[in-house]
Formats: sequence, C-alpha cells, structure tokens
Amino acid sequence: MQVGIDQIGFYTPNKYVDMVDLAHARNEDPNKFLIGIGQNKMSVADQTQDAVSMGINATLRYLDQIARERVGLLIVGTESSVDQSKSASLFIKSALALPANVRTFEVKEACFGMTAGIMIARDYVRLHPHHSAIVIGSDIARYGVNTGGEVTQGAGSISMLIKADPQILAINNGHSSHSEDINDFWRPNDSAVAVVDGKYSKNVYLDFFKQTFTAYRKQTGIKTSDFTALLYHLPFVKMGFKANEWAITAQDEKTKKHLTENFTAAARYGKEVGNIYTASLYLSLLSLLENAKLPANAKIGLFSYGSGAMGEFYSGQIVKGYEKNLHTNADQKMIARRQKLTIPEYEKIFNQALESPQDNLELQSDEQTGTWYFAGTKNRIRQYFQK
Ligand code: HMG
Repeated sequence: MQVGIDQIGFYTPNKYVDMVDLAHARNEDPNKFLIGIGQNKMSVADQTQDAVSMGINATLRYLDQIARERVGLLIVGTESSVDQSKSASLFIKSALALPANVRTFEVKEACFGMTAGIMIARDYVRLHPHHSAIVIGSDIARYGVNTGGEVTQGAGSISMLIKADPQILAINNGHSSHSEDINDFWRPNDSAVAVVDGKYSKNVYLDFFKQTFTAYRKQTGIKTSDFTALLYHLPFVKMGFKANEWAITAQDEKTKKHLTENFTAAARYGKEVGNIYTASLYLSLLSLLENAKLPANAKIGLFSYGSGAMGEFYSGQIVKGYEKNLHTNADQKMIARRQKLTIPEYEKIFNQALESPQDNLELQSDEQTGTWYFAGTKNRIRQYFQK
C-alpha cells in the first residue's frame, strides 16, 4: 500500500515588501538581496494573521474535497506558537469542524516540525489505512527590523492531506537523519524574534545536507542521477542553490541540467514569499509541482533542516495525474493578490505584530471575504473569526 500526499493547501498573508525597496532603505546594493540572497519579495503578516489563522486558511483550500469524517489525526508543526500549553491544532480543528475523535497536537523542532508531522502521519496511515491525516506547517519568520536576518523573513502556511493511495506524491520507505545539539538559530521564551548566528547556520545547513544525502544514497543504493528533482528547506533561495550545486557537481551534463531546471521551478514561490520555516520545504514542493512538468513515478528527494539542529533526507514518487489534484490558479492568485508595503508601513505593521493586543479589543482584518483571522483576545482567550 502506498501512503503519501493527496492534497496541498497554501496560504500567505496579503502584504509584501519588495527586496529592492528594502535594500535601498538599508543602504545595501539591491543585487545583494536579489542575487546574493536570491529573494525578490517577502510576505508580511499583520497582527491579525498568526500560525493558527494561516493554518486554517491553507487547509480551507481543499477541505470541501475530502472526507472529513475519515480524518483521524491533525498535526501542526510550528515555531510561531500562540500558546505555551494549548496546541495551535485545537483552534484549527474547531474552525475546520473536524470530528471530535481526531487525535491532535503540535510538534516543534524549528523548521523540521512539519517533516516530523508528515513522518508520524505516514506511519499512522500505514496502521490505519481507512483514516487520513492533516499535517500543517505554519510560521512567521521574524528576525526584526534592520537586522542581518531581516531579508530572510516571510510568512505563510502549507497544509497537506496524508492518506493511502495518494493522488500527488507517494512517500518512499526509509530516510536518513542527523541531529546535533548546536546553537545556530533559536528563539528564547522572552523574545518574539529569533536569535541567529547567520554565517554558522549556513555552514551547518550545508554540512547536514551533505551528511544526510550521502547516507541516504549509501543506504538505498539510489544515485543522484535517479532523482528528477531535489528539494530543499529554503530559508532563502541562495541557501538551497548552494546545496544543489554541491549535489550536482560531479554529475553528467544531463543530470546537472534537469536538477538545475527543477531547482529553479521549486524556488519560484519561495523567492516571492520568503522563509516560512516549517512549511518552506513544502512550498518548494508545491512550486515544483505547479511550475514543472513531471513524469509519472518521477523520484523527488526532500531535504528538511531545522536549526538546533535536525536534518533529514527522504524521497517520494510522483503519482500519475497529480496535476488534477493541484490548485495552481488559486495558489498563483494568492501570491499575486498581495499589496506592496512601503518600508515605513512594513516597519509599523511588523513592530505592532510583535506586541500582544490589548485584551477585549476586537481586531479587524483587511483580508478577502472568507479568510480566517485572529481577532484579539476576549478575557485572554484567543478569538478566531472568518471574514
Ligand atoms: P549577511 O551577512 O547580510 O550577508 O547575512 P553576506 O555578507 O553573507 O552576503 C550574502 C551573500 O550575498 C554572499 O554570497 C555575498 O557574496 C553576496 P555567498 O558568499 O553566500 O555566496 N553579495 C552579493 N551578491 C551580489 N551582488 C552584491 C552582493 N553583495 C553581497 N552586490 C544571512 C546573510 C543569510 C547570514 C542573514 O540574512 C541571516 O542571518 N539570515 C538568517 C539565518 C538563515 O537563514 N540561515 C540559513 C541556514 S539555517 C536554516 O535554514 C534554519 C532556519 O530556517 C530556522 C529554522 O530552522 O527554524 C533559519
């Protein structure tokens, strides 16, 4: 029995910053951001969008096309938690009206959180083939205004339905993992923004990729040239590009060509949205599926990296007819609908979103009708409404 990804939903907030504007405001050469970092734009979440509301919005993309009563598991991977105790997934379950017998919880290991959820879901569905699982990655990457990491921020969510006989990607058995207790990036409890050792984090990311990709090939006998595409966690596009260059360096011209072309297709959405932490690797997958033509059974390699640090490499096979289960027009409209912010507007919205709103003050959203949003707290209980 094959188990894997049957549906993919995507949401990103309705505002963005253009990297050329940001470079001018920070007295940098725009090419440093556009070429050196590889980013064109980044989505910005105002105080009405958080990990919960974005996760609901991403799942709404496909919810009316699935058998809700069959969902037995709902997992949210996030490092933008809204509560120290209650899981983000409970707010989401309630908004989506999922059955009461759903097992639901939140997982955390930096950007690895969604991959952890997918692996748990894959094994759950293998044991309970009549049930499906929803796995959501939902995050806002925040380093702060005028910091070194500012150009690598972003906001958004990916939601996936994992089930037996999937229509998009069958997940193969096996994986290679590597973990180490290190301090490349973290967010202390008293901070709304991340602390990062940027240059070190880039080196560790590459080292973890080399270790897991090498171990995976050794363990499975699969060669680099067997992959139609290699996908990466994309904190910024240049990071994945460096890993891909290492992967293809000793390959023949044909392999180099298709792995480079498919890397470009996979990076298209991330270039516009920025880092969405847990969901970044899966935004790359969505971007590949919606911007490349992939033959049935094409082998796709996925490298997941979460600071702290945890790396994992695994693979999947494209299912024939996968295009029919995508929502390409809606996803592209989602990115195109965003309003450009001036740098002073972005700074104001960004800093406002770092603060908890005053209790019992109802927040209003400027999103499209049908979008869920965080409406503030009532007697300290978080309120989520649909516009
Ligand atoms: P920086 O110091 O501003 O930039 O920080 P830089 O000096 O390293 O330059 C960046 C690149 O631009 C360099 O290229 C320059 O040469 C080039 P590279 O050497 O890397 O090939 N450059 C130019 N190119 C063209 N024209 C120009 C020009 N000028 C310079 N005029 C940094 C960059 C990424 C370190 C910073 O933004 C940062 O700290 N970001 C956050 C950390 C991060 O994203 N790390 C990635 C690995 S860790 C990870 O992926 C996990 C994470 O997602 C968190 C989680 O797991 O939860 C972050």
